[in-house]
Amino acid sequence: MTIWILGATGRTGREIATRVAARGGTPVLVGRNADRLRKTAADLGLGGVEVIATDDLPGEIGRRRPAVVVNTIGGYAETAVPIARACLPGGGHYVDLANDLVAMPRLLALHDEAAAAGSTFVTGAGFGVLGVEAVVARLCADRVTPSRVRVDALPSVTIEGGPLGEALAQSIVSGLTTGGLRFENGRMVPTRPAADPREHALPDGEKAKSAGAPTGELLAAQLSSGAPEVVSTSGLMPTAPVLRAVLPLIRSLLKIGALRRFAVRRLGAIELKPAPRPREHSWGHAVVTWADGTTREGWLRAGDAMEFTTSVTAETAVRLARGEGRAGAYTPARALGPELAEAAGATICQL
Ligand SMILES: NC(=O)c1ccc[n+]([C@@H]2O[C@H](COP(=O)([O-])OP(=O)(O)OC[C@H]3O[C@@H](n4cnc5c(N)ncnc54)[C@H](OP(=O)(O)O)[C@@H]3O)[C@@H](O)[C@H]2O)c1
Repeated sequence: MTIWILGATGRTGREIATRVAARGGTPVLVGRNADRLRKTAADLGLGGVEVIATDDLPGEIGRRRPAVVVNTIGGYAETAVPIARACLPGGGHYVDLANDLVAMPRLLALHDEAAAAGSTFVTGAGFGVLGVEAVVARLCADRVTPSRVRVDALPSVTIEGGPLGEALAQSIVSGLTTGGLRFENGRMVPTRPAADPREHALPDGEKAKSAGAPTGELLAAQLSSGAPEVVSTSGLMPTAPVLRAVLPLIRSLLKIGALRRFAVRRLGAIELKPAPRPREHSWGHAVVTWADGTTREGWLRAGDAMEFTTSVTAETAVRLARGEGRAGAYTPARALGPELAEAAGATICQL
């Protein structure tokens, strides 16, 4: 049950370590600075746990062979593959919180290597990906492949305050530079950024807006349904016409390497003011349509999206440590079933 948390001094790393311990797993706090790691362990009430400070994560993993590695250091397009590969000897497992369409396909491309080693690799262990794919999986259970799927990820998050951080800034900038994407005839094709804005009447009577987002939910919805036509929107995308109009310009500017690095540094240094979450619930939503015209709609309800994310990651890590995952590389519900979302605190309902 030894579960290494890489980036354990960070926002998600700390929470995941606490939740792994609460589920009976043995977290090991891994980072770059031993003093900060020991202080984090003490702050979390995990004084007895092992801490490992290293500048060579793949090397250390290869030497010590933990049962599960949870990667919260971000920059997943570059960090995920070497760290996951280091888990392969001995059949170690790997989990990350990626949610972008560069990093996730790279990790999923390791499927055959992971399957051959008896390892399970899970990418996208967070609110958005599991929040929509769990609903799609339930709606599609025991049915033929649908022709069309639409998913919407509508997170509600409490802002703790403090710097945004470069790991999260990198994810935001990566989302802005990817441009709009959708599946047509089974292939991912470009579309306008923040396309298809809409307002949702939520099951609890509240309202939320969303627009097209080139994020992991799109890929997860396609993989869990097999549908040739898939669109995905996110509540984190701007829906105001003026902002949607300038997105193509921002995207072009951020493609310039120096500007992109500058934007990540500046964005990461922004001090967030503490704020309560705007709505009580976060929602994942899916509408699935079959060739005969049948349509099914479902919702996943969670509380704070960040708490749900860290709960999903901890639950995934503990299940993998128990040997419950299928060997190969997957998104969370495909590795462990849609009930993973319920074990992490969500409710799924079909209309
Ligand atoms: N999918 C989702 O729903 C979801 C939700 C939340 C977050 N995320 C993603 O999860 C990642 C972590 O977010 P966060 O808010 O926890 O970030 P954070 O607070 O900035 O923490 C990042 C941690 O990683 C460490 N780190 C950064 N770069 C490293 C490197 N090159 N080598 C070793 N350690 C490194 C940092 O250590 P130091 O203290 O040494 O700097 C810190 O402990 C981000 O990519 C974010 O986008 C995804």
